Amino acid sequence: MDILVAGGHGKVALRLLSLLAARGHTARGLVRSPAHAADLTAAGAVPVIGDLEKDETLDAYVKGADAVVFAAGAGPGSGPERKRTVDLGGAVKLADAARATGVRRYVMVSSIGADRPESAGEPMREYLVAKAEADEYVRASGLDYTIVRPGSLTDDPGTGLVKVSTDSDPRRKTHASSLPELGNRGPVPRDDVAAVLAAVLITPATIGKTFELFTGDTPIHVALAAG
Ligand SMILES: NC(=O)c1ccc[n+]([C@@H]2O[C@H](COP(=O)([O-])OP(=O)(O)OC[C@H]3O[C@@H](n4cnc5c(N)ncnc54)[C@H](OP(=O)(O)O)[C@@H]3O)[C@@H](O)[C@H]2O)c1
Repeated sequence: MDILVAGGHGKVALRLLSLLAARGHTARGLVRSPAHAADLTAAGAVPVIGDLEKDETLDAYVKGADAVVFAAGAGPGSGPERKRTVDLGGAVKLADAARATGVRRYVMVSSIGADRPESAGEPMREYLVAKAEADEYVRASGLDYTIVRPGSLTDDPGTGLVKVSTDSDPRRKTHASSLPELGNRGPVPRDDVAAVLAAVLITPATIGKTFELFTGDTPIHVALAAG
């Protein structure tokens, strides 16, 4: 597969690109700084230089991909404006580009708490409102989406063992799920987030699903199959 990861120099994204490249996929990472290109090449990925905020359209980067992943983020040091232009605006631009170029598959790195941003304090609320709106845009886009909402990201080594909780909206359920519902809290290593994203990309049964992701005791493929 040819997979374009937006936010390609991010800590989750670099891990994901490395995994995808090692499995023989064409792993392309969209980065805004040419200085980041060498790190992607070292991971076996293909750097694509582009800016989610400054570029009017992402069509040229997305064209030819089999799937796109949104793993960018304005980051904790950013103000409310960049939550709108990156966390929301970048995700929307990526979905628009996917639609415009005929790419069906869209995997979104969202966040726990995006199901109820109003209950968060500032400055998390701005971030979670942006994430919630981005998720809703992707859901309504008609694309083959999966929304992954990780808990608090850590740099601990991955275990390959996770816990997922799923969308409680009965309109979105296609079958009965044995998983707990959204609204949980907990940490998850970035290694395991990347491994789950790589698994989601080759698991069509995750299309149309939204799930939270934490460290746990269930192997990734078993957890995804249970959704
Ligand atoms: N931290 C948490 O606990 C937590 C929890 C749940 C979900 N998340 C989400 O998980 C995702 C991945 O997290 P992470 O730790 O891997 O993030 P990260 O290391 O901060 O990576 C974010 C990437 O987005 C890029 N980016 C920002 N603005 C851009 C633009 N205009 N054009 C292109 N790229 C741009 C950044 O590039 P530059 O280096 O050029 O700025 C950076 O490489 C994010 O969406 C985050 O919101 C985080």
